[in-house]
Amino acid sequence: MPLSDFLDGLKDNPYFGAGFGLVGVGTALALARKGAQVGMVFFRRNYMITLEVPSRDKSYHWLLSWITKHARHTQHLSVETSYQAHESGRVHTQFDFHPSPGNHIIWYGRKWIRVERTREKQMVDLHTGTPWESVTFTALGRDRQIFFNILQEARELALKQEEGRTVMYTAMGGEWRPFGFPRRRRPLSSVVLERGVTDRIVQDVKDFIGNPRWYTDRGIPYRRGYLLYGPPGCGKSSFITALAGELGYSICLMSLSDRTLSDDRLNHLLSVAPQQSIILLEDVDAAFVNPLAFQGMGRLTFSGLLNSLDGVASSEARIVFMTTNYIERLDAALIRPGRVDLKQYIGHCSHYQLAQMFGRFYPETPHSDGDRFAQDALSVHPEISAAQVQGHFLLHKTDPQGAINNVREIKE
Ligand SMILES: Nc1ncnc2c1ncn2[C@@H]1O[C@H](COP(=O)(O)OP(=O)(O)OP(=O)(O)O)[C@@H](O)[C@H]1O
Ligand SMILES: [Mg+2]
Repeated sequence: MPLSDFLDGLKDNPYFGAGFGLVGVGTALALARKGAQVGMVFFRRNYMITLEVPSRDKSYHWLLSWITKHARHTQHLSVETSYQAHESGRVHTQFDFHPSPGNHIIWYGRKWIRVERTREKQMVDLHTGTPWESVTFTALGRDRQIFFNILQEARELALKQEEGRTVMYTAMGGEWRPFGFPRRRRPLSSVVLERGVTDRIVQDVKDFIGNPRWYTDRGIPYRRGYLLYGPPGCGKSSFITALAGELGYSICLMSLSDRTLSDDRLNHLLSVAPQQSIILLEDVDAAFVNPLAFQGMGRLTFSGLLNSLDGVASSEARIVFMTTNYIERLDAALIRPGRVDLKQYIGHCSHYQLAQMFGRFYPETPHSDGDRFAQDALSVHPEISAAQVQGHFLLHKTDPQGAINNVREIKE
């Protein structure tokens, strides 16, 4: 408080002290300071309202976007760079601007609002080692409605951005942060799996989501684990993304080969995952291929992983998807029922898939063309992934006959 600092300064001033007698002045100053403090507290209590939102709260990120939108004139931005390395080696980075820590003044609803974003240097989240953050809104007056309005507006803004889209979260420290802009939903029908496979999984997930009573009545944790396994490029990740879109769920993406992952952090992350999301653990085999590297750096242990998976339970549906190219490398304990309830092989393209993909890509062509493509392709490449086929079609975008005639050239 500036006033009390000032008064303290006076007290320490030798001239001042000597002239007026230290004791008397000290008492008077203390009284004055007390008075100022009480006055300030009184003022705050009665004429100012504040709202503090910690970073843990779901609305925190909505509010950050809201502030960015409203504090257009603020000069102090901080950047949040998300970084994701794809299996293909492609790297995707994205910059999101946010109001930087500090004060921002926003004119809203015919009122000045002070927004303070704080990042505690001393206070660290024990689970994660990341600094504790919060935003505090302060407005003059007593009307709380203004905060409700802001929260409402921030929520609507966020939901509008997410409408018809799938939000991807990645783990940052101990939290899940939205990664990049929400993606347009991928229709399930665009991922062509072997006959019956899509239905089998979709039906299972929907039954699960629709039946919380069944689990609670039997005292079974309300969660379900899925494992998709098979060669690269056959649609495991694409299918899960499309499934999330179909369900209106978001995806919490996590790589077990992340070197900074520890047992505690994994456990914590799984327990704070946003509602209505699929937890996606990609390449679960990768984590334990090289046990030495892992014990040294990551501190993620196999038993830690099992415990975290078992601990994933909440009053609402918890869906965990795992993918791997090498199911034979997985420990039986990881994929036993309760941790993995449904396993599905996603393999190279069958005749059925090839014909379907052809038909989807070239809707104008007769069925027989799709069959011919499938037959020719399989005779040359008995093991072909959907990703290769997709690449081939892209080379013959408008030329279905070319796609058929050149099946030999499908890239290995
Ligand atoms: N069954 C499929 N139907 C349509 N497109 C597919 C299919 N499988 C793969 N693709 C396409 O191939 C590309 C790679 O697919 P995806 O990432 O889903 O493979 P994956 O099985 O997860 O591979 P990996 O094991 O390497 O992670 C994507 O662009 C996707 O659109
Ligand atoms: Mg994948």
